[in-house]
Amino acid sequence: MAGDEQISVREKGETAKVLTIESGADLSAPELRRMAIETLEDGGVIYLPRSGFELSERERELVSDTAKILSREPDVEDGRPTIIFDPARGRIKKYHYAQVRGKMMRAQVKDTARPDIQAMMSRYGEWAESVILQLFPSYQDKLDRKRVTYRPFARSNTQSLHIDSSYGYPTQGRAMLRIFSNIHPVSRPRVWQLGEPFEPFVRRFLPSVRLSKPSWLSSILARLGIVDGTKTKYDQYIAALRALGMRDKEYQRTAPHKVVEFPPGSSWIAITDLVLHGAMSGQHSLDQTFYLPVEAMNDPSHSSLRILERLTGEALV
Ligand SMILES: [Fe+2]
Repeated sequence: MAGDEQISVREKGETAKVLTIESGADLSAPELRRMAIETLEDGGVIYLPRSGFELSERERELVSDTAKILSREPDVEDGRPTIIFDPARGRIKKYHYAQVRGKMMRAQVKDTARPDIQAMMSRYGEWAESVILQLFPSYQDKLDRKRVTYRPFARSNTQSLHIDSSYGYPTQGRAMLRIFSNIHPVSRPRVWQLGEPFEPFVRRFLPSVRLSKPSWLSSILARLGIVDGTKTKYDQYIAALRALGMRDKEYQRTAPHKVVEFPPGSSWIAITDLVLHGAMSGQHSLDQTFYLPVEAMNDPSHSSLRILERLTGEALV
C-alpha cells in the first residue's frame, strides 16, 4: 500500500514529496509503479519503512562496534570519512580521502574486518539493484551501477541543503539515482532535511553562476583516468549551484524545508541531483548510486539536465 508524507516531522513551505511504500506491498503492482516513478522523477523521495536488507550475525557484530571495523576513529561531527565499494572492481577503495577538520583522512578498515565489510557492501549493491528494478522495470539495462557508500561514523551537525554534484565522477547529465538504507544496529534514526523543488532553487541562484573554463588539469586527469570522465557544462552548473546554495546562510535559514526521520531497517530512494537534501544526524548507513541517462526516464523533461537546459537556453552536454 502507498500513502503520503507519513514521516514528516516539521514542514515549512513547499518541499519534496515523500511517498511511503509499506512493507509487504507488491512492488510489481502497476498503480504502485506508476506512483513511484512519478514521485521519483518529479523530485520526490520514496520511503520504504521495512525494506528487507538484513545484516548477518557477523555484520551486526561489526557494525555494533566500530573499533572492530576501523583502525582509527576520528572525533567527527559530519559523519566522514566514508567507505567506498567499487562494484566494477569488487572491492573497497583503499585510498578514499575526506576532509576532517582541515585534514585529509580516510576510513582505515582493519584487515580482520575487510572481507566481511566488503561482502556486506557487495551484497547491498546487488540487493539495491533488485529493489530498483522491481520498482522501476523500465530502467532495466539503462542503469549504470556505480559506488556503494558505507558511513560508519556518526553525524551530529546539520549539512546544508544541497543537490549532489559529482566531483570526481561527472554524471555528464545523467541522473544520480540513489537508494539509502539505515543499518544502525539498535535504534538511531537517520535524519534528513528536504528542501524546495529544483526549479525555484535554480531560478534563485542561476543569475549568480559564473562558469569558469574547464582547466587543462581536469582534462589531463580525465584522460589519465584519475577522474572518471570529463566535466560537461551540466556538471559545472550543478557544482556551481550547489556551492552557491550551501554558502548562502540566509537561504539555509529561510528556504522551505522539512525534517524526516528514517529508522533502522528503512530505505529511501531519490534522484539526488534533483532533490534538495541535507543529512542532520545518524550513524551507519549504506547507499548505492546509479547513473541513469535522462532518455531512459519516463519524463526526461523533469530531469535536472532538461530543467537547466530550459532555464539557461543552451545545450549542456
Ligand atoms: Fe547529498
